[in-house]
Amino acid sequence: MLSTVDLELALDIAESAARAAGALIRRAYRLPRHIEDKGVNDLVTDTDRVSETLIVRLLQTALPTCNIAGEEKGMRPTQPDAPLTWWIDPLDGTTNFVHGVPHFSVSIGAVDPQDNILAGVVYDPLFDECFRAGRGLGATCNGDPVHVSTRSRLSDSLAASGFPTDLRAEGNNTAEWSAFVPHCQGMSRMGSAALDLCYVAMGRFDLYWESGLATWDMLAGVAILQEAGGRVTRYGGEPLNIHQRGELVASNGLVHDEAMGVLASVRREGKGAR
Ligand code: IPD
Ligand code: CA
Ligand code: CA
Repeated sequence: MLSTVDLELALDIAESAARAAGALIRRAYRLPRHIEDKGVNDLVTDTDRVSETLIVRLLQTALPTCNIAGEEKGMRPTQPDAPLTWWIDPLDGTTNFVHGVPHFSVSIGAVDPQDNILAGVVYDPLFDECFRAGRGLGATCNGDPVHVSTRSRLSDSLAASGFPTDLRAEGNNTAEWSAFVPHCQGMSRMGSAALDLCYVAMGRFDLYWESGLATWDMLAGVAILQEAGGRVTRYGGEPLNIHQRGELVASNGLVHDEAMGVLASVRREGKGAR
């Protein structure tokens, strides 16, 4: 396993890769884009791909013994003895990017050889906010420590969520969304899961839930949220599995039980995510 010093080094490398990819995305945001469909409403642009190529090259050059997995090129871990595996989302919030909505990020997470969550970096290139955390090292935004909010009731909370790419699919989160509406102070659908998790980590949001996320969507944000004092589970309170496209509920800890109660009420009615 990497020592604490090595983990800081790995984080520095991931942060410079995320910032380099962010600079590339920032430039591309002002230019015409080449858009393709990976599935129903599942968009990808040339910028997603170029960003991933750049991040892979930078991580591989700096730490050649580590595994790399990423969203766009189908790279998966190959070396069982690697001290660390990176999971890359080169552009989280592609739909926003395609429509010119200025909210998206680069997300790079890491696990150790036992698949324990080790570290995460999430970079918002337009706002120039870089969130990062390593296990036992705390969470920061542009170097300043961040912590979850202290709001203890859903009625005082700003909640966030996301919807699957295929909006017409069964279990498309409309049942959960409607169930939360009467309980919360505000509801937000920003469009970047990685930033949603970071916003809970720094107390902007108090709660975030979504189902169907992939490892690259959630890993870095979950690492940051946990180091910021937050709680993350499946909808029923079971431990999160970062490799299962299942349910994820993330909070400041204080509103977690109340949020799980709302999610349970949806399940009792036979609606919601499966
Ligand atoms: C998406 C975003 C979005 C979430 C979707 C993800 P992408 O990732 O994180 O917020 O609701 O579930 O697929 O496709 O832009 O990398
Ligand atoms: Ca994503
Ligand atoms: Ca992506």
